[in-house]
Amino acid sequence: MVSYEQIFENNRKWIAEKTANEKDFFEKLAKDQTPEYLYIGCSDSRVTAEDLMGAAPGEVFIHRNVANVVASTDLNIASVINYAVRHLKVKRVVVCGHYGCGGVKAAMQPRDLGILNPWLRNIRDVYRLHKDELNAIKDEEARYDRLVELNVQEQCVNVIKTAVVQQRYVAEGFPTVHGWVFDMRTGLLKDLNLDFRKVLTEIQEIYNLTNTDWFDGSGR
Ligand code: CO
Repeated sequence: MVSYEQIFENNRKWIAEKTANEKDFFEKLAKDQTPEYLYIGCSDSRVTAEDLMGAAPGEVFIHRNVANVVASTDLNIASVINYAVRHLKVKRVVVCGHYGCGGVKAAMQPRDLGILNPWLRNIRDVYRLHKDELNAIKDEEARYDRLVELNVQEQCVNVIKTAVVQQRYVAEGFPTVHGWVFDMRTGLLKDLNLDFRKVLTEIQEIYNLTNTDWFDGSGR
C-alpha cells in the first residue's frame, strides 16, 4: 500500500519521467484540453480508467460514481455530459462497468441500505426491466455478471436520452455512445458492441429531444 509520504515522492518521479523525453510536457498540458472521449465509470479503486485504456493526460474526460450510474436527476453527471459534449465536443461517450461491482451486488440484495437506496434504485430498475432474462439464469454469479452488462447497456441508453447528446449527434454526427465491461479477473476490456444508431432511433420514439422550437425566444 502506498504511504502518504510516498505519494509526493512518486509525484516528483512522475514529473521527471514525463519531462525526460518531452521537456515542455507540462507547458503543453496546461494550455488546453481536447479529449476525444468522455469516460463514465465506477469509483471502484481497481478500475483505473486511463491506466487500463493506456491513455495519456488530456485524452479522456472522466466521471466516476458508484456502479457507473447515469441518473436523470443527478446534476453532477448532467453537467459532466453537457460540458464534455457541448464544449469539449468529445467524439465518443463510454460507459464502463466491471464484473465484481459492489454497487451492482448491493442492488441485488433485498434489504434496506439507507442512503444508498435511491442510488441503487437505478440498478434495481435495470433488474426490473430485464427480470425475465435475469431470472432465467440459475447460476447466481452468471446472473450477477449479466446484470453488470445490462446496467452498462441501460446507462448508455440514459446517456442517449439526453438532449445534448441527441442534438449534437444530429448536428455533427457525434458523439457515439459505447458500453464496455472491465474484467478484473483477467484485466480484459470488453466492448458490448452497442448498436448506437438503433438505440437512438428506438429512444427517439419517446424521448426525442432534438426539437428546440419552444426555445426560440418567441415567449411561447
Ligand atoms: Co463498481
